[in-house]
Amino acid sequence: MVAPMKTVGADGSGWMGGAPALRRKKHPRRGQLPTGGKSGMVERAMNGSVPHIVQYQGSKRLLAPQILEYVPRRFGRLVEPFAGMAAITIAVARQERAERYLVNDLNAPLVGILRAAVETPSELLESYAAVWEGQFSHPGGSVAHFNAVRDAFNRGDRSPANMLYLLARCVKGSVRYGANGQFNQSPDKRRNGTSPKTLKPNLDAISYYLKGRTEFRSADYRAVLEEARPGDVVYMDPPYQGVCKVRDSRYLAGIDAREFAEALESLNRRGVDYLVSYDGQCGDKQYGEDLPAGLGLRKVLLKAGLSSQSLLLGKKEITYEALYISPGLCSLVPGTPRERQALLFEMLDA
Ligand SMILES: C[S@@+](CC[C@H](N)C(=O)[O-])C[C@H]1O[C@@H](n2cnc3c(N)ncnc32)[C@H](O)[C@@H]1O
Repeated sequence: MVAPMKTVGADGSGWMGGAPALRRKKHPRRGQLPTGGKSGMVERAMNGSVPHIVQYQGSKRLLAPQILEYVPRRFGRLVEPFAGMAAITIAVARQERAERYLVNDLNAPLVGILRAAVETPSELLESYAAVWEGQFSHPGGSVAHFNAVRDAFNRGDRSPANMLYLLARCVKGSVRYGANGQFNQSPDKRRNGTSPKTLKPNLDAISYYLKGRTEFRSADYRAVLEEARPGDVVYMDPPYQGVCKVRDSRYLAGIDAREFAEALESLNRRGVDYLVSYDGQCGDKQYGEDLPAGLGLRKVLLKAGLSSQSLLLGKKEITYEALYISPGLCSLVPGTPRERQALLFEMLDA
């Protein structure tokens, strides 16, 4: 468990965990990323936005600022067992909150993209550009080109460039596999997918934040959780409960809710801190079951925006996503961000 330090964060809103000193000497204050040196160049190239590789269905990129409210300011290692496109790992690394990172997803070609983005960004950009540009000169047109790349992928060429192109061009950035394990998502006919020019600053930034401090895995989440230890913070974003079953075509695999609760119970016993994005709520309708009360988790609802489903029906309903916070982090981060702000003012007044 990350030991709480009774110190208000430099930005005045967070509490600090007692993690060992980080490798880089000076840390920017939260929300104030550096303007000078290499990191300043990276930030300017990104126009201050959090880098990402490609649109990925279920990505937590837009929710990252709200999720990070519950992540300690400094800690040893961030473990992300259901990484997808690793939005939270990237957001945490951008603020240099953890010393090291462990990124895992059962879908090996996805992890291949992440590893290449971090370790060999120029090679990934070059090979992606070659595949991406192929769509403009393919004799059968761009849809035939997408289908040819998808066939090559399904025959075994699961290179990061092929996987990235399929993700960048497929409908809703949504990975789908058939019962035979073949990628079967269709191309989005209205767009060409992220251009190499747009991708470059994103890859450069991601590599800058994570290179040399990140380990990559492609295993079942339970194997990764077994390795988690006190001092780590584990962020979990398992496949959405509405689609949780043994096979989930959206994400390669679903998870069993009971086994998942047992894995969390084991983290509690071992004193490992964690956060789980688990279910959703729109208007007064809740999607998915709560996690068992016996786990002692605190549930907060994060505002995910207007529901497009309700808008179609002429209703304006806000969608919320639940975030569960483990007992250790509850004591580290007391109250909601607003309650913490109030606490800070009380402390300053005292
Ligand atoms: C909701 S997505 C995660 C999205 C991620 N938070 C992001 O921001 O991109 C869930 C991920 O869990 C992965 N997954 C599904 N079953 C898994 C398992 N048993 N072990 C590890 N990863 C799994 C899927 O491949 C998918 O990428």
